[in-house]
Amino acid sequence: MDPQSCGACHPDKLAEWSGSLHAKAFSPGLVGQLLTFSREDTQECLNCHAPLAEQAAAFEAARKKGKGHLPEAQGLAAAGNSCGGCHLRGHQRFGPPQRGTGAVGRIAGDLPHGGFTGSTSFQSPEFCAACHQFPADQAINGKPLENTVEEWRSSPQAAAGQTCQSCHMPDRKHLWRGIHDPATTAAGLTPRISADRDKARFAVTSTGVGHAFPTYVTPKVILHAILLDEAGKPKQGSEVTYVIQRRVEHDGADWHEISDTRLLPGQTASVEITWKDAERARVWLEVRPDEFYHAVTYAQLRRDLPQGGAAARLIAEADTRTRSTVYSLFTSEIGRPTASGDHP
Ligand code: HEC
Ligand code: HEC
Ligand code: HEC
Ligand code: HEC
Ligand code: HEC
Repeated sequence: MDPQSCGACHPDKLAEWSGSLHAKAFSPGLVGQLLTFSREDTQECLNCHAPLAEQAAAFEAARKKGKGHLPEAQGLAAAGNSCGGCHLRGHQRFGPPQRGTGAVGRIAGDLPHGGFTGSTSFQSPEFCAACHQFPADQAINGKPLENTVEEWRSSPQAAAGQTCQSCHMPDRKHLWRGIHDPATTAAGLTPRISADRDKARFAVTSTGVGHAFPTYVTPKVILHAILLDEAGKPKQGSEVTYVIQRRVEHDGADWHEISDTRLLPGQTASVEITWKDAERARVWLEVRPDEFYHAVTYAQLRRDLPQGGAAARLIAEADTRTRSTVYSLFTSEIGRPTASGDHP
């Protein structure tokens, strides 16, 4: 069940998966919380973060020895959302229809691991729904915290035949790149920068995202525009911003939605900045993929967990990581058009 052993014959899949967040799902931010949970509550989290029964057993064994926080003691659990969780049931391999032939059902011959069972379920969004879609009865203001499959269902991309797999696993590659990958986010959006004598405008349209941008409640995305002085330095106090985010809060009993400014497919967000006495402006899109964990989840845990313990150390490490995932896209400068209407 160790991904490395599958990798002996499927090296491309192992290399791609290793760079994905599925391989990192048994993260410090998860384990820091699990250490304080009962076995039952732990199991609920593991269903999505390390789903094999053997992974739960490996983590509980490590926890018993007081080493639940150490990746080398966590054993198979540390592999996170790994090959076996998606492809193994009762020692049998399951996969998509055979490449080349499209064959489904039992495919034996004299293949290694006794062949495999090909199934179209691997190409369906329902396959991802198990972990990326919460049930409708957990809705907050009509929408569950994770509503990706429902968002996809009503998208023009779904109508055009694009699926979770065609965007996130092109040619069956095990990449699963999303908002943590700047190039993936940039490819899903179309920026537009324009200006007249009065103001400059920076707009971003969701043109290639097959669900809300962003789909989850944890990222925060900010459009920025700021005036520049003659030396090209930002003018203090001139900045304007616009936030794209679904904001939720938990009051100890229930979740509430504060606002939802995420972009559905085709929608545009923009900022406008008035020139005043400036001749140049800078615009950019700031992406903070893990903002909610930083601002809420980890901030609270850092207050509540006993100082110096293993859980507090893991959460501090996870919080540091949330700062390293921040990036900017579409950074550009624009000049004020001259009175004749020409852009300098
Ligand atoms: C000894 C080499 C070997 C090892 C080890 C191995 N595989 Fe395979 N696997 C193959 C070969 C060969 C095929 C057949 C490819 C074909 O005919 O389409 C295959 C097919 C598959 C398929 C089906 C592909 C499809 O077209 O649907 C899946 C899924 C799969 N393997 C998963 C795994 C997993 C998971 C592991 C580790 C638990 C693993 N394999 C270990 C050699 C291996
Ligand atoms: C067993 C549960 C499970 C299944 C099945 C699953 N995922 Fe995930 N996925 C996760 C978890 C958990 C994470 C977050 C890992 C982390 O960062 O700790 C994740 C992360 C991702 C990310 C990265 C998001 C980002 O923030 O950049 C993408 C993209 C993704 N999954 C797409 C898919 C697609 C497409 C499918 C279906 C083919 C799928 N997943 C199936 C559990 C799952
Ligand atoms: C239904 C599946 C599911 C369950 C159950 C689940 N998660 Fe997650 N979790 C996800 C997905 C999917 C992501 C990635 C979100 C994204 O980028 O869209 C994630 C992300 C995270 C992250 C941020 C990324 C990282 O790994 O540092 C943490 C921390 C986390 N989950 C902790 C937990 C804890 C603790 C529990 C149990 C209370 C839990 N999760 C239960 C699916 C799940
Ligand atoms: C989150 C679930 C998930 C994980 C984890 C995962 N796979 Fe897959 N795998 C899939 C899906 C879904 C497909 C089919 C994609 C498609 O048809 O577009 C697939 C396809 C395959 C295929 C057929 C490939 C082909 O090119 O025809 C092989 C072989 C395979 N996976 C092996 C692995 C191995 C080895 C690992 C671990 C290193 C792994 N998978 C991890 C979901 C997963
Ligand atoms: C048309 C292409 C496309 C389709 C279809 C698509 N995605 Fe995405 N997805 C993207 C792009 C681009 C991003 C990066 C921007 C963003 O975060 O929304 C992304 C981001 C994500 C993320 C990162 C987390 C976040 O908050 O945005 C997850 C998780 C994800 N997709 C899962 C899925 C699942 C599950 C499906 C199927 C129900 C799916 N995607 C369908 C293009 C697509």
